[in-house]
Amino acid sequence: MFKDRDVISIRDFTRDELIKIFNEAFKMEKNIGKRLDILKDKVLALLFFEPSTRTIFSFQTAMYRLGGETIIFSDVKKTSIAKGETLGDTIRVIDGYSDCIVIRHWIEGAAKYAADIAESPVINAGDGTREHPTQTMIDLYTIWRVKGRIDNLNIGLLGDLKYGRAATSLIYGLLKFNLNKLYLISPAELKIRDEVGDSLEGAGIKYIETNDLTDVLDDIDVLYVTRIQRERFPDPAEYERIKGSYRIDKSVLKYAKDDLIILHPLPRVDEISYEVDETKYAYYFKQASYGIPVRMALLKLVMAGE
Ligand code: CP
Repeated sequence: MFKDRDVISIRDFTRDELIKIFNEAFKMEKNIGKRLDILKDKVLALLFFEPSTRTIFSFQTAMYRLGGETIIFSDVKKTSIAKGETLGDTIRVIDGYSDCIVIRHWIEGAAKYAADIAESPVINAGDGTREHPTQTMIDLYTIWRVKGRIDNLNIGLLGDLKYGRAATSLIYGLLKFNLNKLYLISPAELKIRDEVGDSLEGAGIKYIETNDLTDVLDDIDVLYVTRIQRERFPDPAEYERIKGSYRIDKSVLKYAKDDLIILHPLPRVDEISYEVDETKYAYYFKQASYGIPVRMALLKLVMAGE
């Protein structure tokens, strides 16, 4: 079911498979701090064509904790791509050096392209604006761990729902569960793309679109905040116009449910005030910490099987 499987889109996973990953991750949590030997003698290649802190280092740590090794590049200028080598040839070569490839690339579809070339499994660590499936596994795991369920919750996504791959993947992931309500909160220019809306409608999910968080915050159990990503805007003037159009601070939180949790894939810029970090609502650093057990679980299942 999992062994040697490519991880390109969260849409490729069933609800039961996601729960399987969560149960494995929960077991891994108990072993954090130890070095296991589940992936002893295995090599994971980390190919990052875009900047990363959480994804690259949590995959590296997860592989270390499982007893394996990593080979990494995160500066394309120091590889032979700078001499004109193609992505395809790079994948062919790295495929021969490693047992699994994790790739982040600014081109939509790059991970699928790599998976079509490589014999080893390929894991999408973010492809342009399209998807970030392992981030979604962490996001769903955090909800599952903190709330004890993913079903029957009112979930709000706030921010860049058009270009944000973490938000897009999370919407696709939530389709696997029985949501109560889905609030999509964004400036008008950053509403979900048509194909995402079509998927929601195809799945019979009713969603409420608004640009005013305070109108709906008192009905939300989980608020997922994303930043406005300067690097994704085709028109810098549009970014300048929209940036700073929402911000969570203590004054906004007076509308919150008592047991609201706030998540964010990070990095943040200014959309969550630092004063929120000390409140009971802030779960985004906990969420980032779950990157290790979730990625350990996924690597174990893909590289060693069940
Ligand atoms: N959440 C996330 O993908 O963070 P990085 O860009 O730092 O990897």
